[in-house]
Amino acid sequence: MTPLLRLAKSLAFEPIARAAPGVEIRPFRDEADVDTWLALREAAFAGLVQSARPWTRADFEREFTAKPWWSPEYCWFATLSKSNPTSDSPVMSSPVVGSVVLGRSGRPPDDEACVMWLMVDPARRRRGIGRALLTTLEQAVWNAGERRIVLETHRNWRDAVQLYQQCGYLPL
Ligand SMILES: CC(C)(COP(=O)(O)OP(=O)(O)OC[C@H]1O[C@@H](n2cnc3c(N)ncnc32)[C@H](O)[C@@H]1OP(=O)(O)O)[C@@H](O)C(=O)NCCC(=O)NCCS
Repeated sequence: MTPLLRLAKSLAFEPIARAAPGVEIRPFRDEADVDTWLALREAAFAGLVQSARPWTRADFEREFTAKPWWSPEYCWFATLSKSNPTSDSPVMSSPVVGSVVLGRSGRPPDDEACVMWLMVDPARRRRGIGRALLTTLEQAVWNAGERRIVLETHRNWRDAVQLYQQCGYLPL
């Protein structure tokens, strides 16, 4: 059985962006965020994705900024708020603890809003950050007038599958 799992959610009601205590969500700001995203990806997907080498800025460009749909306002970072110092994170030296990108699933007429690269620092999991990022994305989709979101994940990425099921995503 293919490990790929396609999920979708129809937005029946306006989503409410859920807050995670001590965490703020902000959009992509500048070039420094590329390095931040790359470091977070290495930490968050360690043991999940097998790549021969760490991703570089060129990979980020290929995956995101070279795409016609790329928009910095649709790439979010979860950061620790000032009242929540980062010093106890063994993995990340920056205050960024999570990220997600709103991409597109394909070309018209099958082009749909798509969750891409949802990830949270392993040292900060199970504190609602993944859900906060996902609901922020859902709210942006709703505000753009769209009512459906799709995504691809892997059957054996248990944490992600649990989160998506919990948030109302159903198998396609
Ligand atoms: C998937 C991931 C983003 C979840 O982030 P998170 O901040 O830990 O998730 P949350 O704390 O917001 O969890 C929300 C809900 O999802 C479910 N969930 C998340 N992780 C879970 C786990 N390990 N076991 C069971 N349920 C889990 C729970 O229902 C949880 O609610 P609860 O804590 O109130 O029970 C994170 O585990 C991660 O980065 N994983 C590696 C990268 C990855 O697989 N990304 C998805 C790519 S498609």
